[in-house]
Amino acid sequence: MADIQNCDSCSINPLDLFERVTTQGEKVRSLKAEKASKDEIDTAVKSLLSLKLSYKTVTGQDYKANSPPIDFTPMNNGSAMAEDEDFVDPWTVQTSNAKGIDYDKLLVRFGSSKIDNELINRIERVTGKKPHHFLRTGIFFSHRDMNQILDAYENKKPFYLYTGRGPSSEAMHVGHLIPFIFTKWLQEVFNVPLVIQLTDDEKYLWKDLTIEKAYQYAVENAKDIIACGFDINKTFIFSDLDYLGKSPGFYKNIVKVQKHVTFNQVKGIFGFSDSDCIGKISFPAIQAAPAFSSSFPLIFKETKGVQCLIPCAIDQDPYFRMTRDVAPRIGYPKPALLHSIFFPALQGAQTKMSASDPNSSIFLTDTPKQIKTKINKHAFSGGKDTVEEHRKYGGNCDVDVSYMYLTFFLEDDDKLEQMKQAYTNGALLTGELKKLLIETLQPLIAAHQQRRKEVTEEMVKEFMTPRKLAFDF
Ligand code: TRP
Repeated sequence: MADIQNCDSCSINPLDLFERVTTQGEKVRSLKAEKASKDEIDTAVKSLLSLKLSYKTVTGQDYKANSPPIDFTPMNNGSAMAEDEDFVDPWTVQTSNAKGIDYDKLLVRFGSSKIDNELINRIERVTGKKPHHFLRTGIFFSHRDMNQILDAYENKKPFYLYTGRGPSSEAMHVGHLIPFIFTKWLQEVFNVPLVIQLTDDEKYLWKDLTIEKAYQYAVENAKDIIACGFDINKTFIFSDLDYLGKSPGFYKNIVKVQKHVTFNQVKGIFGFSDSDCIGKISFPAIQAAPAFSSSFPLIFKETKGVQCLIPCAIDQDPYFRMTRDVAPRIGYPKPALLHSIFFPALQGAQTKMSASDPNSSIFLTDTPKQIKTKINKHAFSGGKDTVEEHRKYGGNCDVDVSYMYLTFFLEDDDKLEQMKQAYTNGALLTGELKKLLIETLQPLIAAHQQRRKEVTEEMVKEFMTPRKLAFDF
């Protein structure tokens, strides 16, 4: 066993250390069971104690059997998973339940915290603004360290926002807008810089795409993102394929992360195998680096360690659990996170939508007629088969996709609640519910298309140029 005490504790990973303590504990137990010599046992115990001490130094927590360090718990999505368990990683979201993923269970499995009323009220108190309806309706439902961000904000300490998108095709659907709509609100309410990463490199590595196509999709997606209304003076959008070669600060952070994460760990977190290309294996470091402010020297100048807040869908959490684990070991604050639930496919909440199946969602390019047809034809209904039965027994909002979509896009809480009741008691029919959704989405998509048309090439270029933003650091 290596001499832990003498090695640089910063280079040991908490999870490795946890496993070493566990193994050493087992060794001590078996030596005792075998009635080994006192000397032998004493040496093993000494080594165990020193490992426990290192564990405490690295994680700040006492070693507890069967409870690995929180930020680095592997997801255990593998084969040992029980059949009724949900599966969530950055590439796959799968559940056998028509209601969708069990998010309460996910909170426990991922070890994140619930966004409860107390936190929502605090956000309202601190900002003086009415909380976004994504918070009120539980669409952003989970967080890590959001209270630290609010503390910083109250103490007038700066922070910044970081989010992103993997440009896998030109076509974005309404679900893709969720993190951006919310991020725009956060930017407005807190008045902070925002960086948006377009991982064209990731899509090149994972999909059957050329480098040129991936970059082209990044630029096209940037237009849809800009159309969400971000402030050009406060937002930097970057393509990895482009920015990585321009910013030594960014690359240095990538290398720092790469040095502190082992192949074993990424295998545990992301399920990579020996036959995955090395590009995939090292990619998580590239998604981690924007969470460190020194990756953006033109924005933050010499100011070191500006705290970062990442709004994202919960499937991205594995990247940021890794980032949070590494951060203190390379001298940076851990990024805070706000997690959203998934946007369901039209066919039902069992799965995430796929950009390659045009009927699985409403696309930002759909015409009013397409929106109407898709919803009427494909939106999974929780209603009963006949009007008589529906009136008698009522519909089931828990599995009804039109209702779910309305929780995302109908901002009027009272109206939503009234609808839920009317649908549940049978007064509102499926056709009527669908009509409401169609009438909500048609103007929303049309307005998006109009704003996208107004995004000029010059604007895209400006958003994507590394530069100082409207903040003095
Ligand atoms: N990997 C993400 C995707 O495929 C893109 C991404 C990069 C991202 N950085 C992010 C998403 C930060 C949320 C927050 O969509």
